[in-house]
Amino acid sequence: MRITFCCTGTAPEPWLLGLRAALPEAEVTLWAPGAPPADHAVVWAPPQQFIDEQPGLKALFNIGAGVDALLRLRLPPGMHVVRLDDAGMSVQMAEYVCQAVIRHFREFDLAEADMVAGKWAFRKPRLRADFAVGIMGLGVLGSRVAQALQAFEFPVNGWSRSAKPAAGALAQVRCFAGDAQLPDFLAASRVLVNLLPLTVQTENILNHATLSQLQPGGYVINVARGAHLVDADLLALLDSGHLAGATLDVFRTEPLPAGHPFWHHPKLTLTPHTSARTLRDDSVAQIARKIRALAAGQPIGNMPGVVDTSLGY
Ligand code: NAP
Ligand code: GLV
Repeated sequence: MRITFCCTGTAPEPWLLGLRAALPEAEVTLWAPGAPPADHAVVWAPPQQFIDEQPGLKALFNIGAGVDALLRLRLPPGMHVVRLDDAGMSVQMAEYVCQAVIRHFREFDLAEADMVAGKWAFRKPRLRADFAVGIMGLGVLGSRVAQALQAFEFPVNGWSRSAKPAAGALAQVRCFAGDAQLPDFLAASRVLVNLLPLTVQTENILNHATLSQLQPGGYVINVARGAHLVDADLLALLDSGHLAGATLDVFRTEPLPAGHPFWHHPKLTLTPHTSARTLRDDSVAQIARKIRALAAGQPIGNMPGVVDTSLGY
């Protein structure tokens, strides 16, 4: 079995060593133009030339959860795309979102600024019930985030494409589904967490019309993709006072360009696309398990993380 590795912006050696150790029966090589055809590929943002030269791949394994960059390429009809299914990301995302919600709710940013200024001051405790958190996207990451926020007793709303049964991790989540229920979901939420995939349907979904439906003093946490957010609309709603602030981990252009108004806005907290990192060992183990299952004849359709390319996630 041949496996080819083509991941832009990723040091290949540790991945090649990890894949060779996990799949000693396979020949694992770094892709270069003109390389012989492989059975499977491990990829992140490969060039179109890679896809064009490897039309016979049984599956493309994406070393991230989001497949928006991959699906922008022309893929041969029927080529299977498999994304990371958690692989250690959901607990990181839960940590990140909880710290952002709690930092805002408990006003720790203001307490830190006071202390830096040499000021010892208390603020009136705020009511948790006034800070309902709405999570857009109740998939692998969104449902783990919902569970973590509930451990801190925040009221949690969730919004997804298809309706969710009130069971398991979502048993206590107030669930909304589809475009028709988006206004009710937004009106019920003060803090908005975006964990949607970037698709034709969700691009620019965080805009003036949607964000202005959040409760007054709303707070936005974007941890999905920069192209979900209309930057100018966020700035206008921060400046009008309708939104109290935002924590942004992802940006339309990354790295965030010098001079972008986000850099020094006093109501923004920024991080460099780091909320849930790909963990190499977990990812290699997951991909190796899936490649073995395919080799043993398991149908790919049953595999967690298989992307529906017609939906874009
Ligand atoms: P997932 O399991 O595929 O979940 C996606 C969720 O979004 C599902 O609940 C889905 O609804 C919902 N959804 C999709 N299209 C929708 C629409 N048009 N309207 C309403 N809901 C819609 O994905 P995941 O693993 O949780 O990852 C989510 C995203 O997080 C990734 O695509 C990636 O962009 C981002 N991410 C960011 C980082 C980071 O470090 N910042 C790290 C990892 C991932 P259904 O349940 O009905 O299908
Ligand atoms: C990171 O953003 C990912 O999609 O895994």
